[in-house]
Amino acid sequence: MSALLELVREDLRAFAGYSSARRAGVTGDIWLNANESGWRNPADPGLGVNRYPDPQPASLRGRLAEIYGVRAEQVLVGRGSDEAIDLLVRALCRPGQDAVVVAPPVFGMYAVSARLQGAPLVEVPLRDGPEGFSMDLDAMANAAIARGAKLVFACSPANPTGQAVPAAELLALARRLAGRALLVVDEAYGEYSDEPSLAAEIDRQPNLAVLRTLSKAHALAAARIGCLLAAPELIAVLRNCQAPYPLPSPCVQLALAGLSDEALTLTRERIALVRSERERLAAALSAAPGVRRVYPSMGNYLLVRFEDAEAAFRRLLAAGVVVRDMRASPQLGDALRISIGLPAENDAVLAALGEGRAAA
Ligand SMILES: Cc1ncc(COP(=O)(O)O)c(C=O)c1O
Repeated sequence: MSALLELVREDLRAFAGYSSARRAGVTGDIWLNANESGWRNPADPGLGVNRYPDPQPASLRGRLAEIYGVRAEQVLVGRGSDEAIDLLVRALCRPGQDAVVVAPPVFGMYAVSARLQGAPLVEVPLRDGPEGFSMDLDAMANAAIARGAKLVFACSPANPTGQAVPAAELLALARRLAGRALLVVDEAYGEYSDEPSLAAEIDRQPNLAVLRTLSKAHALAAARIGCLLAAPELIAVLRNCQAPYPLPSPCVQLALAGLSDEALTLTRERIALVRSERERLAAALSAAPGVRRVYPSMGNYLLVRFEDAEAAFRRLLAAGVVVRDMRASPQLGDALRISIGLPAENDAVLAALGEGRAAA
C-alpha cells in the first residue's frame, strides 16, 4: 500500500460507499433505475432536473483541472471547499486519536470539522511581527509529528490575517510530513495572491493537497462549488465517502458558464481591480484616525486593528456597512476584517470611519 493510503482510516481504505444509480456504469435510452419522474417539472427551464445529477461531471472536473493545471483524476468537486475539508477530516482521522493541526487565528471550518469528527485539534498560533502575521512552519511540523496528526491545514493566503506563505516553504513542510500527515494548502484566495499555486507539485509530493473554490474570485459563492486537488488514489477514497449526488445540476451549468473563456477574462479584470482597491484602501486606512494597524494582505480583505474596534464597528454599521468583527479570535481583540468591495463601497468604508472621527 502507498504511504498516502496509509494515512486514510483503515476501515475506509476499501470502503465502496453508496452505489448510486448514476455510478452503476450502465447506459441506455430509457432510465428506470432511480425512481425519478419521467416528466419534467413545469418550472424546469430545460435543465432536466427530473434526473439525478452526475456525481462528478466530467465537463466540470475537466475544466477545473485545466484552470488549476492538474489532471481531471486529481480533482474532487464538492459543495464548496467546506465539503472537501469535512471529507478529509472524516476519512483520515479516527475520533479521539488522529489530530488536526491548525494555525490560529484562521478560517474556522478546520476546527469545526475536527470537532464534529471528535478529532483532537492541535493549535500552533501564528506569530505577529513587523512584517505581519506568519506561520511557524517548523513548530507546525514538530507538533504534527509529536501528536501523530494526520492532517495539517495551511491557509495561504490566510483568512483573516492576509499573509501568503512562499510556495517553497510549504513544499518543504510537506516533505517533512511525508509518510506521517497530509498537508492541505487552502488556496481559497489564491487568485488574489502573488504566490504561485502548489497544485503543480501534487504529482511529486503525494502527501500534499490543495483546496480551491469558485466562491471568491469567481463570484459564484451561492453555487457552492469548491474542489480538492490531490493524488488520484486519495480522490477516489474521498469520492466513496461523499454524498451520492453532491452537485446540483443547475449549479454545475452555472459554474461551467462562469468558467468560460469570456467569463474568465472579466474575472481576471475584477481580480486586478480588487488588488488595486486593496492597496488603495490599505493606504487610506493606515492614515485614518483611530486605526492602529493595517496588515498586508494577499487576499480580498484587510485585517485592521483599531484603537476602539467596537466604536469603528458601530460607526460602519450606522453607515450600513457590515464588516467581520474578529475580536473573539485569539490575538485579534482589537481587529475587524474588511472585505474589498466595489470602489464605491470601499469609499463608504473610508467615509464612515473618517466622518465618525471628525464628528466625535
Ligand atoms: C480560507 C477559506 N477556505 C475555505 C472557505 C470555504 O469556501 P467555500 O466552501 O465557499 O468554497 C472559505 C470561506 O470563507 C475560506 O475563507
